[in-house]
Amino acid sequence: MLAGRALTPPDIAASKGKTLLVCLTAYTTPIARLVDRHCDVVLVGDSVGMVLHGLPNTLGVTLDMMIMHGKAVRRGVERGLMVVDMPFGSYEEGPEQAFRNAARVMAETGCAAVKLEGGETMADTIGFVTARGIPVMAHVGLTPQAVNAFGGYRVQGRGQDAERIRRDAAAVAEAGAFSVVLEKVPEALARRITAEIAVPTIGIGASPACDGQILVVDDMLGLFGDFRPKFVKRYAELGHAAEAAIAAYAEEVREGRFPAAEHVFGDEPTTLKEGEAA
Ligand code: KIV
Repeated sequence: MLAGRALTPPDIAASKGKTLLVCLTAYTTPIARLVDRHCDVVLVGDSVGMVLHGLPNTLGVTLDMMIMHGKAVRRGVERGLMVVDMPFGSYEEGPEQAFRNAARVMAETGCAAVKLEGGETMADTIGFVTARGIPVMAHVGLTPQAVNAFGGYRVQGRGQDAERIRRDAAAVAEAGAFSVVLEKVPEALARRITAEIAVPTIGIGASPACDGQILVVDDMLGLFGDFRPKFVKRYAELGHAAEAAIAAYAEEVREGRFPAAEHVFGDEPTTLKEGEAA
């Protein structure tokens, strides 16, 4: 883990070759607090649309949704670098649109950087906004906002296609991105790009040789249904635990066993302090 003070984009950029970056997504204050205790980067990913809002993909996520979740996450982050995803349609028209919307995201959420998807085609935009004070985390390989163009969530950069991803990563790094997410690319390609570019690579379905790793927090906690792609290791099964708890509650209510005597109030006034058991 990087040093104890609040982390900045230059800290993340300077970590290359020194320490492995630990990154997770967060969308709410309580989860952001937990993530912030252990991670260098807290990403308010547009995956929020799928994992919290039940959308079929990230295309329906709006700037207002990102700002609302960004504000919630801000309240839970003290040490990590908070990055907010730019949603589909909020930056692709050109550098001015990207700057205008990214500036709004930064001003309203208090995040220190934004992430946007795309390689060579986004290099001008990344150059424009970084030159105007907006740090950018880039995202190449499988860029989920382009799921329709890719025809599904397919591995990108196999065989001859590797050159395209190498050019993408080099272009966004040279344009000024302080780090680059590499999503769902062959392991050897991710390793090669990590050796080639000057800023940290952050892998998801990429390689242990990347300069850091990121996962969607709901995936690794087992909270997002039975979604089990190869690149997600489930560190807990909280979805199953939550369902067991809900089933137990339902059974106890139906059988008249909840609430019990200890959960109800007597006639006498109570003077409880905050957090004290009744
Ligand atoms: O939206 C997201 O959660 C992401 C990460 C998976 C990198 O972009």
